[in-house]
Amino acid sequence: MTGSTGLIGSRIQELLYKDLSFIPLLQSHVDITDNSSVKDFIVKNDFDIMLHLAGYTNVDLAEKERDLCEKINVTGTRNVFNAVKNKGKKFIYISTDFVFDGKTPPFYEDSTPSPIGWYAKTKYKGEKVVGKDAMIVRISYPYRASFDQKKDLVRAIKSNLEEGKKLSMISDTMITPTFIDDVAHSLKYLVEHFSNEVFHIVGSENHTPYEAAIKIAEVFKLDKSLIGKTTFDEFYKDNKIRSKQSIIKSKKNNFWKMKSLEEGLNEIKKQLAQPHQT
Ligand SMILES: NC(=O)c1ccc[n+]([C@@H]2O[C@H](COP(=O)([O-])OP(=O)(O)OC[C@H]3O[C@@H](n4cnc5c(N)ncnc54)[C@H](OP(=O)(O)O)[C@@H]3O)[C@@H](O)[C@H]2O)c1
Repeated sequence: MTGSTGLIGSRIQELLYKDLSFIPLLQSHVDITDNSSVKDFIVKNDFDIMLHLAGYTNVDLAEKERDLCEKINVTGTRNVFNAVKNKGKKFIYISTDFVFDGKTPPFYEDSTPSPIGWYAKTKYKGEKVVGKDAMIVRISYPYRASFDQKKDLVRAIKSNLEEGKKLSMISDTMITPTFIDDVAHSLKYLVEHFSNEVFHIVGSENHTPYEAAIKIAEVFKLDKSLIGKTTFDEFYKDNKIRSKQSIIKSKKNNFWKMKSLEEGLNEIKKQLAQPHQT
């Protein structure tokens, strides 16, 4: 697995380590942009499937750090993919709802991508690098109970409300929040039933960010009056690198029931109350 120290990869490992045996490719040992060390690592290690999560993931900074973002998301993906293909092993590429432009929702596995921002463009280029010789799993606004290194949308909203900060949340766009634990369980199925196809592993409901914030306040009993409304145009002004309607759905996921935001938040509440149980 690449990206095993990240928001999503670390939770996948935490939840599935009893079922699957992971060999992490750590950036501290192997930079995926360095082709010869990638090749060396892949040749030396014995595995069945490469789960490729490593990426440049800062959507806003990507507009400024275009070369670095492209190097990691495209060249890095190509390096890992080619080495794995040469070894005759399977490949799973983790991609994003951001490959869609939001103009004709909903977006299914067979919808045509048309990315807007630089990060999204590089993730789509990564999809094209692996093409039909890999499984592509697109996820969307992932969140989990805890991860000190990086906030997701849910924990960013929750901690701001806990600190009594006023929030201005967009009420005229849609997002599809996805509970990371569901991504992990779905991946277990997909690893065991591998095929070179595209899958959308996404939450079961779509919300405006405003509705999502209200749900977070309700579940965690925080002050809803801190949450105000804004519009996409007002919030992002000239920085329109996200799609307005990220309504992403799956025609293929008949193997794992994805949680709604409310169900995911209630599960997080349970996990936080019993931190030693997953
Ligand atoms: N987070 C989201 O909202 C979201 C949504 C949809 C799809 N995705 C996709 O899901 C995947 C995982 O996202 P995430 O949020 O878990 O990422 P993350 O928390 O930002 O972690 C990125 C991971 O990539 C590793 N990495 C970065 N550059 C590397 C390099 N040059 N060589 C080797 N490893 C490198 C990092 O290692 P270090 O810890 O050493 O830096 C870290 O493990 C990404 O491909 C992302 O595009 C994310």
